[in-house]
Amino acid sequence: MPDIPSPRFDFADLDSLTALYPLLARVRAEDPVHWAPQLNGWVTTRYADAVAALRDPALTSQRLALIVQYQLRHSDPAIAKDFERVCKQQMLFRDGAEHHRLRVLGNRGFTPSVMERARPMVEGVVNDLLDKVQAKGQMDAIADFAQPLPAVAIAELFGIPASDRDLFQTWSDDVAKFFGGTHGDPATDGRAANDGMLALEDYFLRLIEKRRPAPGHDLVSLLLAGQAEGKLSAEEVSAQCILILIAGHVTTIDQMGNALSAFLQHPEQWKKLRDDPTRIATAVEEAIRYDPAAPFTHRIAIKETRIGDKTIKPGDVVYVGLAAGNRDPAAFPNPDTFDIARSPNEHLSFAVGPHVCLGAGLARRELAIGIAALAKRMPNLRPAAEPPRRRCESLVFRGFHTLPVEF
Ligand code: HEM
Repeated sequence: MPDIPSPRFDFADLDSLTALYPLLARVRAEDPVHWAPQLNGWVTTRYADAVAALRDPALTSQRLALIVQYQLRHSDPAIAKDFERVCKQQMLFRDGAEHHRLRVLGNRGFTPSVMERARPMVEGVVNDLLDKVQAKGQMDAIADFAQPLPAVAIAELFGIPASDRDLFQTWSDDVAKFFGGTHGDPATDGRAANDGMLALEDYFLRLIEKRRPAPGHDLVSLLLAGQAEGKLSAEEVSAQCILILIAGHVTTIDQMGNALSAFLQHPEQWKKLRDDPTRIATAVEEAIRYDPAAPFTHRIAIKETRIGDKTIKPGDVVYVGLAAGNRDPAAFPNPDTFDIARSPNEHLSFAVGPHVCLGAGLARRELAIGIAALAKRMPNLRPAAEPPRRRCESLVFRGFHTLPVEF
């Protein structure tokens, strides 16, 4: 690994991460493929470099040990052994043919027709949530709106009974927190994530056995069809269900918060959308580009490769800058402008290449239905006096703890 200590850019400082975009712009201008000593890894900031890195077979997605080691700091890795065992079977952490086998089956659960079937359910959830706060004239857009939406939507897609949803919330929060960056005691958080993972595995293995004799149209049944064809073991079906549950949960909450925050900071764009609801599709794409829920993803080099003018050695970690690529002036005119009419808008927020987000269609639908309903029912949406609280403890997840609004 290169030994180039750089005091210039601090990727470990939470204030820098909060004001992420000025930091990324400086790195892109001065050292676009940057060795960040605090991360012990490379950071990419240009659009073209991110696309090339995400398609480069020299960079592996098998990075679980890195995540576990990073999250546990100096604690015993055995604490998270079940977390690691289950994750290892998930498509997100596999490469090549093994990834393809799991992905092809996963795709069956996310076809446009399956997503279209989800529309009335998402509309119902959104309207129920807004009914609860409409008369109050204010809400926390995270706790009252963004947070419950994806949990209910995914539970519905899996056909999970409403009575089990609270259980799920705790388990998946514990797992997602560990994946995205713990801030409490690493060993305690590691144990909670491990227990959450075991509970989720147990739950899904039972659900699979329940569905096996009488499959329906839900996601578990669609994945089970793959097992019947001999392409997937029951443990692999369960592991993909857990991945889908976790990957579609925190990301969508964070993205809804980031999107609403962008509108609150740009009231003229909110007015444009409110006055012309047909703009919703480009508005959602722009909100996802402007402030993505997953600003970075990571890869590890398994062979020597090049990114820009830098040589990446085997074993080096690469933080691929999705948010940074979205603001690259070489790819987007006026990249720091939030413009809901922007088109084309080939942003990187769902990544590109083999691991491009499986749930992008669902996320887009949830965001479009949610934001359109807000624009219709709460046209005067504005920030409340109490300031929002940002959440960006790691490079991988970015959202809000709270986002108080009035309407
Ligand atoms: C706006 C919300 C979302 C964002 C910003 C997001 C972002 C991403 C990104 C950047 C990746 C690629 C990670 C990598 O290559 O390392 C990814 C993969 C994935 N996402 Fe999403 N995601 C969102 C919503 C969802 C939803 C709703 C689901 C499912 C219900 C989902 C399921 C997945 C899965 C299963 C993968 C792994 C795909 C693979 O490895 O082939 N995501 N997502």
